[in-house]
Amino acid sequence: MVPARPSLVMMALLGSAASGCAAELPTEASARGEVLFKNCVQCHGDSGEGSTLMNAPAIAGLPQWYVEAQVTHFQTGWRGAHADDVEGLKMRPMSRTLKSAADVSLVSAHVSKLAVNRGEASLVGDVAKGQSAYATCSVCHGADGTGNEAMKAPPLRQLNDWYIVAQLRKFKTGVRAYEPADASGATMKAMAGAVPDEAAMRDLAAYIHTLPL
Ligand code: HEC
Ligand code: HEC
Repeated sequence: MVPARPSLVMMALLGSAASGCAAELPTEASARGEVLFKNCVQCHGDSGEGSTLMNAPAIAGLPQWYVEAQVTHFQTGWRGAHADDVEGLKMRPMSRTLKSAADVSLVSAHVSKLAVNRGEASLVGDVAKGQSAYATCSVCHGADGTGNEAMKAPPLRQLNDWYIVAQLRKFKTGVRAYEPADASGATMKAMAGAVPDEAAMRDLAAYIHTLPL
């Protein structure tokens, strides 16, 4: 039903005040992004703040390029198709409810505009140890944790601390980044391999949680 509307609106506008066009089209696009996002809130929360109950991370404020990339990876099975990836297996079918690349872009744009909300600290780690270990990470993710699009490295500072640990574990064990063609995943898998143990993962997450938003 919704897909037919933009073209009708466009025809109506072209037939009348052409000056209204530029203002009207982005509004239609963001409205569609908002509608598509309704399929995400049952797990990611009304404001994209995440849900520990669903093991669904905060996604609010992640950059559009990264959300697009990850949703596409879930769709193609580069992420979330590993038999031991309990959480990824929940996200994968949801990614496939988005039927076109245009819809992936629209919902990703909507997510990127939501206010960041990483929640309260939920684990105990040694922040000082995490800070020194983070020196390696900052090469790609930035000293301030804001990420680096050119390196396809996402921002980390707005992630839930528990989700950071979960993902480091998944990269290290190969539950994420198992697909050889997934170059950005492979880069991160190598880095997680160098994080010695769960305690070091918690230290890193505890430090990242202290980075200013
Ligand atoms: C049934 C619950 C569920 C629904 C609905 C859902 N997700 Fe997810 N999503 C998850 C879970 C669980 C994860 C964590 C996967 C993991 O641990 O690797 C996730 C992960 C993600 C990630 C990766 C975040 C990151 O930092 O890498 C993105 C992006 C995402 N979801 C976007 C969406 C979008 C957009 C929608 C709506 C179209 C959606 N999700 C709907 C459960 C869900
Ligand atoms: C050489 C560059 C590089 C370095 C160094 C690096 N990363 Fe990454 N990291 C990436 C890339 C690229 C991705 C995106 C992977 C993907 O596309 O699935 C990523 C993804 C992540 C994710 C998943 C984010 C999400 O939203 O799901 C976490 C967590 C993470 N990195 C933490 C770290 C930590 C902690 C360190 C230091 C121990 C580190 N990274 C070092 C490149 C790097």
